[in-house]
Amino acid sequence: MKKKTSQLSAVVLIIFTFVMFAFTTESVKENEKITELESIVIPDDVMAVIDNKCYGCHNNESKSTKSKGKLNFDKFKDDGYSKSKTISKLGKIAKDLHKNEMPPEKFLAKYPDKTLTADESKLLIDWAEGERKTLSGE
Ligand code: HEC
Repeated sequence: MKKKTSQLSAVVLIIFTFVMFAFTTESVKENEKITELESIVIPDDVMAVIDNKCYGCHNNESKSTKSKGKLNFDKFKDDGYSKSKTISKLGKIAKDLHKNEMPPEKFLAKYPDKTLTADESKLLIDWAEGERKTLSGE
């Protein structure tokens, strides 16, 4: 009986280790993806907000086809959005944030800590507007 219990805890420990390993590599992968963005410049402070409050819905692996179809941060790479599409998406980010439309209200009702602070919103808007102007040569 005692032997069985220790075998069982060994198995549980092995499974736990695997799960933790899988989680760790998963989050590393996500970070790699977002720092790979090439067509536009995303400073670290902007990246941190996007990573924390937007990227979960707007990336290649997002379960919601609607959110990733509308905006996919992974597509700000050279092989993703065209230049004109990038310019238009940056414009939409600034516009939606001005109107306080993102993250979606329903989502925030469940996860209030994902609400953008006024500072974070301004940071993203200024960044998106700045990048849009640089890209479009304004
Ligand atoms: C819970 C998931 C979720 C989160 C988090 C989220 N979004 Fe969205 N976003 C969506 C969905 C869903 C849509 C599509 C809405 C529609 O079409 O009605 C969308 C649409 C958009 C659009 C419109 C794109 C277009 O071309 O019309 C922009 C811009 C946007 N999101 C920016 C952001 C930003 C910036 C953040 C972080 C501050 C963010 N989103 C966080 C789900 C999310």
